[in-house]
Amino acid sequence: MEPLTPQQLDPAPLASRRVVVFGFGAQGRAHALNLRDSSVDVVVGLRPGSASRAECEREGLDVLAPEAAAESADVAVMLVPDEVQPGLYAEILAPCLRPEAALLFAHGYNIHYRKLVPRTDLDVLMVAPLGIGEQVRRQYELGRGVPALLAVHQDASGGAQALAGAYAAANGHARAAVFATSFAAETETDLFAEQAVLCGGVGQLITAAFETLTEAGYPEEIAYFCCLHEVKLIADLVQSRGLAGMRRSISSTAAYGDATRGSRVIGQPSRDAMRVILAEIRDGRFAQELEAEMQSGQPTLRAWKAAAEAHPLEAVGARVRALMPWLDEG
Ligand SMILES: NC(=O)c1ccc[n+]([C@@H]2O[C@H](COP(=O)([O-])OP(=O)(O)OC[C@H]3O[C@@H](n4cnc5c(N)ncnc54)[C@H](OP(=O)(O)O)[C@@H]3O)[C@@H](O)[C@H]2O)c1
Repeated sequence: MEPLTPQQLDPAPLASRRVVVFGFGAQGRAHALNLRDSSVDVVVGLRPGSASRAECEREGLDVLAPEAAAESADVAVMLVPDEVQPGLYAEILAPCLRPEAALLFAHGYNIHYRKLVPRTDLDVLMVAPLGIGEQVRRQYELGRGVPALLAVHQDASGGAQALAGAYAAANGHARAAVFATSFAAETETDLFAEQAVLCGGVGQLITAAFETLTEAGYPEEIAYFCCLHEVKLIADLVQSRGLAGMRRSISSTAAYGDATRGSRVIGQPSRDAMRVILAEIRDGRFAQELEAEMQSGQPTLRAWKAAAEAHPLEAVGARVRALMPWLDEG
C-alpha cells in the first residue's frame, strides 16, 4: 500500500471553497486552526449557547449558527461526536446544504453502518487522522503532520478524491503520509484496534498485572510504575523503532522474558477472542449493541466508568502523578 503522491494531495481544489467545521472539540479545534493557518476560508458551526464560542473568537475564527453555517458551506466537516452526527445531518445539514456540496468525516462509522444516508448530490469524503486532535494541531504547529486515511464514499462531482486530498494537505497530513482506503476498512480496523489493543486490550493488561502484583503483597506505587507508567517508555520505542527495534533496546533479561512469557499472557484464547470481536464488528453486531446502549441511557458504560474510577489504580495514580506535574504537559 503506497501513500498518496504530492499530485494527489494538491491543495488547489480547496482554493475559493468555504469549509465549515461543525464542532470545536478534540478534532474540530485542530482542523479549524490548521485550515485557517493553511489559508483556507474556514468558519466554525456551533450550537446556540456553545461553550466553545469564546475560544473560537479568541482564536479569531468566525462562528456561525448551524443553519447559516450549513447554507454557506462548500465543504461541511462533521466533527461533533459520532452519536450526534445522524441528528445534526437530518435536522440541519440535509435541508440546508447547497446542491453538490461535500460532506467530510474524520471517521467512517455512521456512513459504514448507515446511521446516516447522505443526499445523492453530495460528495461524501473521509480524512481520518491517525492520531488524537491534540497531536493533529501540535504536529501541524511544529511543521510536521499526523498520518491519515482518506476515502470517498460518494463522488457526485467527479472531484471528490481530489477535494479530500486537498483537505488532507491543508490539515497537515500530507507532511506525513496519506493512504487511500474505504469507509468500511477504516471503520472496522479502527474499532478493532481500540477494542483489542489501544483501549480494551491495554487497559485490561495493565489492570490485571497491577492486581496480580498488589494481591501478591507488592506496594501499589511500585506496581503502578512498572505496569502502567513505563508503558509509555515502551510505546515510544515501539512507535519510533518497531517491535524488533524495541527488543534491540531492552536488556537480555527483558528480551528473554518477552520471548518465553509474552505468548503465555496473550495466548490462543486471546487470539480466539480477537477473531470473535472482529466478526462482531464486521457483521454489525457491535454497532447494534452500541446503539441499544446509547438509546437506553448508557447503563453499561456508566457502571463501567464508575467501577474504573473507584479502582485502586486511580488513587495511587493520582498520588504518583502529583509527584510529576509535568506529565500532564504531554
Ligand atoms: N477524539 C479524537 O481525537 C478523534 C480521533 C480520530 C477521529 N475522531 C473522529 O472525529 C469526530 C469528532 O470527534 P471528537 O472526539 O473531536 O468530538 P468531540 O470532541 O466530542 O466534539 C465536541 C464538539 O461537538 C459539539 N457537540 C457535542 N454535542 C453536540 C450536539 N448535540 N449538537 C451540536 N454540537 C455538539 C460540542 O459542542 P460545544 O462546543 O457546544 O460543547 C463540541 O464543539 C468523530 O467522528 C470521531 O470519531 C476523533
